[in-house]
Amino acid sequence: MLEEIKKFYEKTKFKFGELQKLPKGIEVPLNWIRVFYKTYPRFPKIELKIPEKETEFSKLLKKRVSRRDFKDCPINFEDIERILYLSSGLKSSDNENLQPKRFYPSAGARYPIEVYLLANNIEGLSKGLYHYNVKSNTLEEILKKDLSGKSIRLFGQDISKGNPNFIILTGVMSRSEVKYGLNAYRFGLIESGHIGQNIYLLSEEQRLGCCAIGGFDNELTTKLLDLSDDEIPLYVFALGKTN
Ligand SMILES: Cc1cc2nc3c(=O)[nH]c(=O)nc-3n(C[C@H](O)[C@H](O)[C@H](O)COP(=O)(O)O)c2cc1C
Repeated sequence: MLEEIKKFYEKTKFKFGELQKLPKGIEVPLNWIRVFYKTYPRFPKIELKIPEKETEFSKLLKKRVSRRDFKDCPINFEDIERILYLSSGLKSSDNENLQPKRFYPSAGARYPIEVYLLANNIEGLSKGLYHYNVKSNTLEEILKKDLSGKSIRLFGQDISKGNPNFIILTGVMSRSEVKYGLNAYRFGLIESGHIGQNIYLLSEEQRLGCCAIGGFDNELTTKLLDLSDDEIPLYVFALGKTN
């Protein structure tokens, strides 16, 4: 990994308890909660209609929200199969000479993102840590162990209530660095966002709850996944049945 990327990553790593603390007795500042909208009041405006045509896709977009009210009830194995494959798997291609594409865009088709599953609550799948092998569409069992206690330390107490599962996205920087240098980190974050939206919408489609987690313990996650120096955890999604 390029030295500058490593430095930036090290400086922006998240650890619980290191969030900006408010002095005792001070309310949450308004600029933490007030939402701002940019506007050009003196420029001409063209009115736009809210689209009326309802499709399955527009319904999904409207329904998507971050859900955190997980209930301790297993999700189906078929749901996780569907979510992993359609969020980050390989598309089948008629042309064997071309590299297969995926369900999300990737800068220069370098595909730096790796996908892991921390299974706490899936019918028919042992509790533990798995790597999603994109090429063979298989789950590789890294650790067969109940990690629900560890999930609390990695991803936080609040989001772990109701024992959800977690999808962890990491980025292998060197895959993109060879082409884009320092932009590898930026592109990795953007691409994990693309996959994340797929995960959110597929979860909604399967009537499962999903919540993005940017605030997770980077060091503990790196340790659990036993990542090399070149691979950094980027984004996590809690996934489970909700109330
Ligand atoms: C990059 C990113 C990081 C986030 N991190 C967290 C998090 O650590 N914990 C959490 O509960 N929600 C997290 N969220 C979810 C946001 O709180 C949520 O998207 C926002 O409140 C808007 O609500 P909605 O997703 O229901 O539309 C994150 C969302 C994004 C995009």
